[in-house]
Amino acid sequence: MKIDYDKYPLPRRFRHHTNPLLYFPASELKIVPPNYPPVYDEINWQEHFSNGAPPDTLDIGCGKGTFLLEYSDQYPGRNILGIEVRKTPTDWIRNYIDGENIGNCSVLWYSVVNGLSFIGDESVRDIFYFFPDPWPKRRHQKRRAFNNLLLDETARTLKKDDRLWLQTDVAEVDEYHKDLLDGHAGFEYEIIESDNDWNLPVTNKENFCRRKNIPFFRIAARKK
Ligand SMILES: C[S@@+](CC[C@H](N)C(=O)[O-])C[C@H]1O[C@@H](n2cnc3c(N)ncnc32)[C@H](O)[C@@H]1O
Repeated sequence: MKIDYDKYPLPRRFRHHTNPLLYFPASELKIVPPNYPPVYDEINWQEHFSNGAPPDTLDIGCGKGTFLLEYSDQYPGRNILGIEVRKTPTDWIRNYIDGENIGNCSVLWYSVVNGLSFIGDESVRDIFYFFPDPWPKRRHQKRRAFNNLLLDETARTLKKDDRLWLQTDVAEVDEYHKDLLDGHAGFEYEIIESDNDWNLPVTNKENFCRRKNIPFFRIAARKK
């Protein structure tokens, strides 16, 4: 799939980390800032997917959406939902999906720290969480969206034997992912080293790492 960036020009700047409060659940905030993404308990999937069915695949922190769009093209039988906290990339992806009339792909402007209550139990076949913001400083680690709560949500929403896929270029974050998985009874995982065993479309950040020869780490976690 080749995205026509002349027809769909990317915004000049995708601003980063506009407000640290976006990385905390709305229920924990005294005042929810005006640029905080909507929080959903339920979603009408008819508004998102042409077959009206809920998503069976999630791309959390989908960024500019290269992986999301490529995956939807390669797997027309899936309904893939991208979740992204920054509005600018979400608007660009939405415009592309509508412009190209893609029925099996959608995107939600949403901060995943609020959980996945709009996704049914054991309804999802794959969850991708690629190159999460690493928040390396100790005082910022509370902002990491991948935590025990999200792992519980992942375990609840995935079908048995289906997978959570993690990728990062930060060794410390990779260790953090493994520690969380080690401490959770719902998963067993393997470290993936070969591209053949991974066999998924390339993400924007992965592409960047490959071009700059930056190593990255991959985990596939199976729900028990
Ligand atoms: C480093 S980028 C990686 C993007 C993409 N997955 C890739 O591999 O190219 C991390 C993305 O996660 C998004 N993100 C960070 N915290 C989030 C949250 N709480 N909810 C949803 N998305 C979040 C960021 O805005 C950013 O687009």
